[in-house]
Amino acid sequence: MLAAELSAIGPAHEVVHAIEVPEPGAPAPGRVIVRMAACSINPADLLLIEGRYATLPEVPSRLGIEGVGTVEAVGDGVSHLAPGDTVLSLGRANWAHRIDAGAQEVVKLPAGVDIEQAAMLKVNGATAWRMLTDYVTLTAGDWVIQDAANSGVGINLIRLAAAKGIRSVNVVRRPELIEPLMDQGADVVIVDGEDLPERVHDATGNADIKLAIDAVSGPIVARLADCLGEGGIVVNYGLLSGRNCELTSEQVVFKGVILTGFWLAKVMRGMTYDDIAAMYDALAARILDGTIAVPVEARYPLSDIQEALRHAGTYGRGGKILLRPDAG
Ligand SMILES: NC(=O)c1ccc[n+]([C@@H]2O[C@H](COP(=O)([O-])OP(=O)(O)OC[C@H]3O[C@@H](n4cnc5c(N)ncnc54)[C@H](OP(=O)(O)O)[C@@H]3O)[C@@H](O)[C@H]2O)c1
Repeated sequence: MLAAELSAIGPAHEVVHAIEVPEPGAPAPGRVIVRMAACSINPADLLLIEGRYATLPEVPSRLGIEGVGTVEAVGDGVSHLAPGDTVLSLGRANWAHRIDAGAQEVVKLPAGVDIEQAAMLKVNGATAWRMLTDYVTLTAGDWVIQDAANSGVGINLIRLAAAKGIRSVNVVRRPELIEPLMDQGADVVIVDGEDLPERVHDATGNADIKLAIDAVSGPIVARLADCLGEGGIVVNYGLLSGRNCELTSEQVVFKGVILTGFWLAKVMRGMTYDDIAAMYDALAARILDGTIAVPVEARYPLSDIQEALRHAGTYGRGGKILLRPDAG
């Protein structure tokens, strides 16, 4: 079977190879063998491979923060999983034809869930959901503003918000994204610019926006803060611009804007297995009812991992890049 291996820190499409590795064999007690079906490639994978993430990976090491598959075999003592179950892996070495995982390193998903949507749930679905609910209590009619709105997280956020009647202002950097994001359920889509706050105030009727969600960092943070009402919260969860978050003292002192950060890995470290399983069960239900539906731009077999990584590293994409280990 094949598994993705990191051979050095560097450009992902050069330092990651699909290598032949032994099949995992029968599971040990408390473990399961999962045949992987679909895995997404996230910016966090690329940052990790390039040595720009929170921690440096070991070299060599296996890769792949996200993946879903089917349980093939369960070891002694595993009672909550059975062969044939669809599971989401909580591990970080999922780009392989099969994985050998602890029974509490995977969570069962409902039967019939779309496997590709499920493959994009662990990171972006959970991130959008938690940022929308953990910082400000928003109810139907309230507004949220976000940048990088056409990202996987962004589209999840638009759709999860719309399902609750929460209105979203979505900031993008390309005008051709306005129509597709309106189709996703966005209320307002705006191309970023120096006059962003004025255009947001006009488009929302001077709404008192309490929550801004930022993946870009840098000077856009101050523009988002100018779109907020008194005491609004900016949640930063990415650094796509490569810059530090910028806020003015006036915004922080006089307007009382609060800047905080979200990191899913840290949030999940504070959750029990049962809490995590319940969260993904609730999110999978949002796939089943059609709330969550993130576009996919391309699918690659594991054997084409370098091409997949090269594609994932390009911007201006129309959706996520998926590995389909079940396709070769
Ligand atoms: N903190 C956490 O726990 C956490 C969890 C999940 C994701 N993230 C972060 O969230 C971000 C989005 O992840 P994703 O998987 O949803 O992304 P994705 O689907 O791969 O999409 C990437 C997005 O980034 C936009 N982008 C790239 N560079 C940009 C820049 N300099 N300025 C503005 N927009 C830019 C792209 O816009 P174009 O289409 O115009 O190129 C696109 O919308 C990443 O930074 C990721 O690391 C963080």
